Amino acid sequence: MKLQKNEVLKKGFIDLPIPSNINLIEEIKRLKKEKNAVILGHFYQEPEIQDLSDYLGDSLYLAQIAEKIDNPLIVFAGVHFMAETAKMLSPDKKVIIPDLNAGCSLADSCPADKFAEFIKNNPNHTVISYVNTTAEIKALSDICCTSTNAVQIVESVAKDEKIIFGPDRNLGNYINSITGRNMLVWDGACHVHEEFSLEAIVKLKKENPDSKIIAHPECEKPILIVADHVGSTSSLLKFTKTDSCKKFIVVTESGILHQMKKESPEKTFIPAPPKDSTCGCNDCKFMRMITLEKIYFSLLYEFPTVDMSPELIKRAVLPIKRMLEISKKLGL
Ligand code: 13P
Ligand code: SF4
Repeated sequence: MKLQKNEVLKKGFIDLPIPSNINLIEEIKRLKKEKNAVILGHFYQEPEIQDLSDYLGDSLYLAQIAEKIDNPLIVFAGVHFMAETAKMLSPDKKVIIPDLNAGCSLADSCPADKFAEFIKNNPNHTVISYVNTTAEIKALSDICCTSTNAVQIVESVAKDEKIIFGPDRNLGNYINSITGRNMLVWDGACHVHEEFSLEAIVKLKKENPDSKIIAHPECEKPILIVADHVGSTSSLLKFTKTDSCKKFIVVTESGILHQMKKESPEKTFIPAPPKDSTCGCNDCKFMRMITLEKIYFSLLYEFPTVDMSPELIKRAVLPIKRMLEISKKLGL
């Protein structure tokens, strides 16, 4: 029995019963084929969702794919700002996100009215914003970046140009230290990456002296100082494949461990623990709002869709396109 759209909207997907006679994964594959849809999945998704994704990667790769593919329907297994970026790059396509509440604490730490005021109070700056922002913030920015290309994007701006960087203070300060720039950094952060315990990481390293620490640049400075390698999710994944070390302490959202284990089954991966916790991993609660069940229902009913006004898209897509052009030139 197929429910009417308004009934589903009222109930939400969570309470909907999955028909007992279906195999969820097979049914999702069937619906994808029938509707010529694709699933774009981020490395922080649950393993089964990663395995089901047609394209799997970091935020830069997924934006590049969204711009390129022809499929009329995109299911975004990631968080809202990523789906929004896909929609801006493919405005004629239907982009759906299986749970509209899958937000991002970093994007939330930068409200558009406050950021506009910050820009106004600091005139004559080039504004670079990390993609982990709302479309409204992108519309206030000159260029976007992701953690994969942040250093190169900043270096593409003339040395004497003053720069505002937002919203992640850890990434911004890290880029300042790498490039020798003195960017004005917005005071935002990600709740997952700021939760890692330096003490626990140092303890793990002592217990595993043959390991290397690898960390995402959204982590706090002391963690980045002790890390052997700092980089985006795809950079961390590449490092675990190419480096001769056989054991890694992984300081980012634990979803990435699935690909690391898949690509280097002979190596050992230890997830870094958060502060004040008895569990071993650190998960992004927003990423984990996406479930197989919600993917199934969102494909079946083709909503919730990600929509923005054409005027907002027109302004917000410009800094994303600038970023993609620079990345393409640099082969990133
Ligand atoms: P990546 O750009 O490495 O995919 O990271 C996105 C993110 O949300 C990190 O928390
Ligand atoms: Fe946002 Fe942090 Fe989750 Fe990444 S891990 S999506 S920055 S809340």
